[in-house]
This record gives sequence, C-alpha cells and structure tokens, in this order.
Amino acid sequence: MQFSTKIFSQADINNPKQLKASLLSLLAHPSDCLVLAYSKADVDALAGSKTKIGLLTELDRLLGGSVTHANLVGDLDVQQACVCTLRAEKSWTAAGIKTKRVLLVCLGDMKSADARSLTAFSKIARAALKHLSNGSIQNALWFIPSFSLGHRSEFIAEEVRLTIQYAGDQAYRFGVRQPAMKFKAKDKPDTFNHLIFAGNDNCAKELKAAVAEGMAIVEGMNLTKDLGNLPPNICTPTYLGKAAQGLSKKTALKVEVMGRKQIEALGMGSFLSVAQGSSTPPQFIVMRHQGGKVGEAPIVLVGKGITFDTGGISLKPGEAMDEMKYDMCGAASVIGTMYAVALMRLKKNVIGVVPTCENMPSGQATRPGDIVKSMSGQTIEILNTDAEGRLILCDALTYVERFKPKAVIDVATLTGACVIALGHVHSGLFSDDEGLVNALTRAGHASLDTVWRLPLDAAYHEQLKSNFADVANIGGRPAGSVTAACFLSRFTEKYKWAHLDIAGTAWKSGAAKGATGRPVPLLVNYLLEQK
Ligand code: BES
Ligand code: MN
Ligand code: ZN
Repeated sequence: MQFSTKIFSQADINNPKQLKASLLSLLAHPSDCLVLAYSKADVDALAGSKTKIGLLTELDRLLGGSVTHANLVGDLDVQQACVCTLRAEKSWTAAGIKTKRVLLVCLGDMKSADARSLTAFSKIARAALKHLSNGSIQNALWFIPSFSLGHRSEFIAEEVRLTIQYAGDQAYRFGVRQPAMKFKAKDKPDTFNHLIFAGNDNCAKELKAAVAEGMAIVEGMNLTKDLGNLPPNICTPTYLGKAAQGLSKKTALKVEVMGRKQIEALGMGSFLSVAQGSSTPPQFIVMRHQGGKVGEAPIVLVGKGITFDTGGISLKPGEAMDEMKYDMCGAASVIGTMYAVALMRLKKNVIGVVPTCENMPSGQATRPGDIVKSMSGQTIEILNTDAEGRLILCDALTYVERFKPKAVIDVATLTGACVIALGHVHSGLFSDDEGLVNALTRAGHASLDTVWRLPLDAAYHEQLKSNFADVANIGGRPAGSVTAACFLSRFTEKYKWAHLDIAGTAWKSGAAKGATGRPVPLLVNYLLEQK
C-alpha cells in the first residue's frame, strides 16, 4: 500500500469564492476515484433554491447534473458514513474532468457535536475505504473532510494518521507478506493500493508530516502483525532477536541481543525459570532509538515475548491452545513501535526491551512450588507455571532501571482475566501516575486504540502473600489482572510506570483470526505527544 500527498496550492473548499475552482482542480486530476465528504446541509442546499452555494450544488454544476440525478434516485443519504459513487460520463470528459469516479461520503448532520468528533471521521473513513477495496479502483485522491470544516491542525493530523492506519489495516494480507506460508492457496494483494491525500498550501507541511507518521504506524503495525501471526515453530526467541537486529540494518536503531549466558550473568533467575523448560534458548533484546539529545532521559517500552505459552507444568487445556503463539504480541508491538519511531525519526530517546522465551513443560521445567530469585533480589514462589509473563517481565523491569527512564510502559498479553473484564475493546491500563494515565488515555482516543484504567490498590497485594518466599506469582482467581499488575508493580519502584494488558486486544479469534497490530497506534501516538 502506497500513501502520498498531492498539493493543489489554491484549493480551498471552505472559501465559497474558490469552491468552484477548487473542485475543478481536484476533478481535473487523473485518478480512479476522488473521495469527497458532504454534510446534510449540502444535500439540503442541493434540493433547495438554485442560488444557494454548497459543495454538492457546485459539484453538480461541474458534473452536468450527476449529483442531482443520484439524489433523485435516492442514493444521497444524509446518514453518517453513507456512500454514493458517481461514475464518469461523456459530459465529464468534455468538461476536462479526469477522475473516473467521485465517491461521496456523508458526514451526517454537522450541527451535532458527535458528527464533528474523531470517532465520526474514523467511521466515515472506514466506510469510504471499504468501498475503494477489492474492486477495479487502484488509486484514490482523498480530500480530508476536516479541511473543509476548518478544524485545527492537530485534529487534521490525527484524522490523516487514522485514515492511513485503517487503510493499512485493510490492505494487510499475511500470505502476501509471508508467501512461504501458503504453497497453493496464495493470497492476493488488494487491487486498491495507492491513497493520495489532497491538500493546499495552508496545510501542506502538516499534511506531509502526518502522512509520514501514518505510514510509519502502518509499517510498525504490519511488522507486529507478521510477528504475531507467524507460527511458533518459526517465530522463536531467536527469530525475534534476528527480526530486531534486521531493523538496525534498515534504520538508525541500535540493537543488542543477549543469550542465556548473559541473562544468567545479569542474575535474571525469574526469567530463566520460565525459559528452562524449553530447548529453545531465551533471548533478551534491547533496541535503542537515539532521536533526542544525548543524556536526555528515555521512554522505555518493555514487551512480553513468550513465543508459545503451553502453561508449562501447569499445562493449559488443549482447546485453542494454538492461539498462545500470540503470547509474544507485547514484544511484537514494542518491536513494531520501535520500527515506526525509527522510520519517522522521532526527536526523542526511546528504548525497547524484550525478554523472550518459550513456556514449555519438560523434565527441566519449573515445578509449582519452586522458589526462584529475581534480578531485584526478591524471591518468588511459583505456585502456577502458567503465570509466566510476570516472571519474565519482572526481571526486564529491574534491568531498565539502569536507563534512568522518564517513564516505563510494559505491554503484555498477561491475563485471561483481562479479556473477561474488558473484552476486545479496551486494553487494560494500570498505573499510579496520573500524568501517564492521562497521556495514554488521550493517545488511545487519538488513535482509537483505547485503554481502560483498572486499579492497583495496596489491598490487592494481600493476595500475593507467600508463606515461603517474598512474593507468590499468583493471587487467585478474583481480580486476576489486578494482582498480575500488582506483582509487576513491586519491580517498578524506581521510575514512573504503566502496564498495558493487551490479552483481549492484540489479536482476534474466529473467522478473522489474526494479530491486530495493537497497541502500536496507541504507543506511537503517545510518543508523538510527549514534549
Ligand atoms: N498468556 C496468558 C494470558 C492469556 C490467556 C492471554 C488467554 C490471552 C488469552 C498468561 O500467561 C496466563 O496463562 N495467565 C493465566 C494466569 C493465571 C495462571 C493466574 C491466566 O490468565 O489464566
Ligand atoms: Mn501463561
Ligand atoms: Zn502467557
């Protein structure tokens, strides 16, 4: 999928005096489809007195009555996100119009605040993109609705990024990107493969920046999805390490991958206790993006990288166990975010850290009842080997103290309980830092990759008491996601910290089974907004 911008220097749909010339310049640009948004008021103007000026009225004049005709046959709905396609006629060519189609998409009634929200625009973008997909349209010229509505520039940037995020999501095909995985039933790429954003001189700079950011988000999401979707016999800890190292060849990222020996030397007894059941060696990946000043405190992202979670000796039931290949989606989203950050040359220091291993049962595997020593010095009684994510994360959280971070965010498919609590809509957010909570909540709204805050109160720590060690690795069934987060919080006292439980949002089950690329949009939007 290709994304670009095309600047029509004088085009300004907002200015009634320039409306006609603006529309004409867009229509005269050769494209398979021009996408324009209209509101209920535009339809009213079209049907009303002929002297009224409105987007559709002017368009109708230029297109020799095509819009009126569409309205007469009932195709111009005034409901939000309804679409209507106008196809080229002889009269269009005679008038110098070079677009083959005009896709009209309805904004709804702009008098309501809801219709002016980012959520509404995203709905509209989705509807239009769906129409462009899988037909004979290859490229489309897209006039962003909020330009015509005179929105502030941050809003326009968010809208552009979201539109690109959705277009990239729609275009993703696992089999096209990983052709070796399907021998006969090859996937085909979408025929729609080029989205061109139309802008004018006033917005050219912001538009170009937002398009570059959107493209980086898509690249990051695509990588995250690929890593999540690859089978666990291929996407091993070693593979994740190589994938991260591969990025250091394409970008300015600095990547270090440590093996078992180095992990032992660091004293990560908790992490190693999970890895010891598998013959596949664990890896500890550190990725650095040095976009800010030297010495400027970095934001650190930590991702859970269990490339397959059988549960270990506390073996999981067999049903849908294949989905536990997605237990490295935290790691994949950190790697994907680091890639996006590097591609957009973000002017901040960001470090991505990934502890990765398999959780397997074997003669070497950790037993329930074993006590291990974490890098922090705290001992942990492992009461359930299936609560392994927190065991690899706690050592990574201790390790990152050395960076004296501005903030640390860990991302993990940590608990089934989070899926029960929040379903597949919001990721669980845990943090005692109000600043981080607000920033992540806002970034979630801007990217529609949303979070919902859950508690971390001291009272829940009671459930983690152990008779034999400093802490137990499980807190029983009640509030399972909260006690998991409480466990992690014991290793994060030296810095500002937030935990994202993405067990319900990182992938989809059923017919659309696959990784979603979340929370890359959330994390990138958060990083973009940091001052
Ligand atoms: N990777 C799982 C969490 C998970 C389960 C994610 C289902 C997505 C869907 C994690 O390692 C795990 O097994 N957690 C246990 C914790 C329990 C043993 C305290 C769980 O959620 O059941
Ligand atoms: Mn588990
Ligand atoms: Zn797990």
